[in-house]
Amino acid sequence: MFLRALEWKGRSLRFLDQTRLPWEEVYVETEDYRDIVEAIKHLRIRGAPLIGVAAAYGLCLGAFEGLKSEDFFSFLERVDLELRSTRPTAVNLFWALDRMRAIWSAQNALGDWEEVVDRLVAEAKAIDAENVATSESIARFGAALFENGDRVLTHCNTGPLACGGWGTALGAILWAVHREGKKLTVYADETRPILQGARLTAFELLKSGIPVTLVCDNMAGSLMSRGHITKVIVGADRIAMNGDVANKIGTYTIAVLAYHHGIPFYVAAPLSTVDPEAKTGGDIPIEERNPQEVTTFGGVTVAPSGVAVYNPAFDVTPSSLVHAFVTEEGVVYPPFEEKLQALRSKRRK
Ligand code: MRU
Repeated sequence: MFLRALEWKGRSLRFLDQTRLPWEEVYVETEDYRDIVEAIKHLRIRGAPLIGVAAAYGLCLGAFEGLKSEDFFSFLERVDLELRSTRPTAVNLFWALDRMRAIWSAQNALGDWEEVVDRLVAEAKAIDAENVATSESIARFGAALFENGDRVLTHCNTGPLACGGWGTALGAILWAVHREGKKLTVYADETRPILQGARLTAFELLKSGIPVTLVCDNMAGSLMSRGHITKVIVGADRIAMNGDVANKIGTYTIAVLAYHHGIPFYVAAPLSTVDPEAKTGGDIPIEERNPQEVTTFGGVTVAPSGVAVYNPAFDVTPSSLVHAFVTEEGVVYPPFEEKLQALRSKRRK
């Protein structure tokens, strides 16, 4: 039913180029970690959980190449650094690379490089499998929040393409409809500037047989004021310990609107997205992207040349606007800090 966004093929990684959707389904298979670096930077591979899994496999590709180098561990350091510098906000990238680093730095003294590579591949596969299981739990817990007849708004893309498995916020919608037979009306924001909602969420929903109504980002207020929305659910790229949430630009606006209209605003994300190093949203680095994403639409220039552009890829929604988090351990209601702390420390790294 779902497209497979990533697949480890033993010595290579096959991925779906998400920049080509919905027009064509193009798969790329590569043994070169540099292609994974490029793919993450340019959003061919995207979505916080999937970026983490791709980075782990990217490190494996680098490790295979490192076997041919003079200094295996310096080579791995370089690969790790290149992968870390692809995108700054989704913490899953750093979380997955930290797990991989724990494997190779522990083996540093061993000298048996082939053995290290085997262990790295095993760890990347474990991250991948855990990610699929985690997203199924999130989808299940999230689905339970919906009632028959709910009219749900979502933002950006948080389904199988962004996560593997069922997905997070979109996974909850998919699970509610396909596994629980609930009747939902789904609205998807187009998600300017690069339209993950229009290109990917609408595509995934229609492909799985769920009707969806696409709206421009600036139509959410109108929808809510007319009573068309009963619940909002989104994903997250990084959650601070106090419950502030960095997610795709435009999320904050929707959260404010939802609060104003008394509509529950849910955030669905794995606990690996909770960053113990970030006390509040102010500690979360926000990626700024190429101005061309704003001055063009579908490849056509829509602004005068030389115009100044502000293009943050994410914004921060304060925890006070979050009704609840949906995690693989269940639904977490306020106050968040202690509960997130307890759940986060329960999981390995
Ligand atoms: O820039 P993207 O497309 O990687 O941004 C994706 C999002 O903002 C998603 O909402 C977020 O990663 C959650 S994915 C389950």
